[in-house]
Amino acid sequence: MPGSVNGDDHSGRGAHASRADVDPHGIQALCACHENRPDALLEILHAVQQRVGYVPPEALATIAAALNLSRAEVHGVVSYYHDFHTAPQGRHVVKLCRAEACQAVGAQALYDHICASEGIGTGGTTTDGALTVEAAYCLGNCALGPAALVDGRLVARLTRERIDAIAAGARADAPQAAE
Ligand code: FES
Repeated sequence: MPGSVNGDDHSGRGAHASRADVDPHGIQALCACHENRPDALLEILHAVQQRVGYVPPEALATIAAALNLSRAEVHGVVSYYHDFHTAPQGRHVVKLCRAEACQAVGAQALYDHICASEGIGTGGTTTDGALTVEAAYCLGNCALGPAALVDGRLVARLTRERIDAIAAGARADAPQAAE
């Protein structure tokens, strides 16, 4: 099962890479900052994501070469941890809990609803870049589900109306609906 890593600020603020950000020399420099140590792979991936906003697939080969790992090994780490993104995130991010307690109170239906109404798939982003919806697996708010992190802020007892309001707020770039 995918894990989670520390270091994500859960800001939920998407960032978009420039060509300079994904320049192989910049990626190599980040690796060099960690002395190209294979055991620093997580820190390096976090650094790339912090700089670029996500971990560009084209960066994996560069990182692998610098750390003397296979591309498959680097890809395996990126895909294992939920906190790494392989595409730019939206300006606002909803992490909707899909763990057991939230599932029992309708989280899956909410997830399906918001993805369908916004026209996005799992972990996807609206075409206007306003909103990313992705799954989370227990946010420690099980008694008040369905729960979500909205731009890093915990929201409890979500309903269709509330998540629709959150999506509308994201499109308008307005403050998110309050708990
Ligand atoms: S199961 Fe959703 S917050 Fe714990």
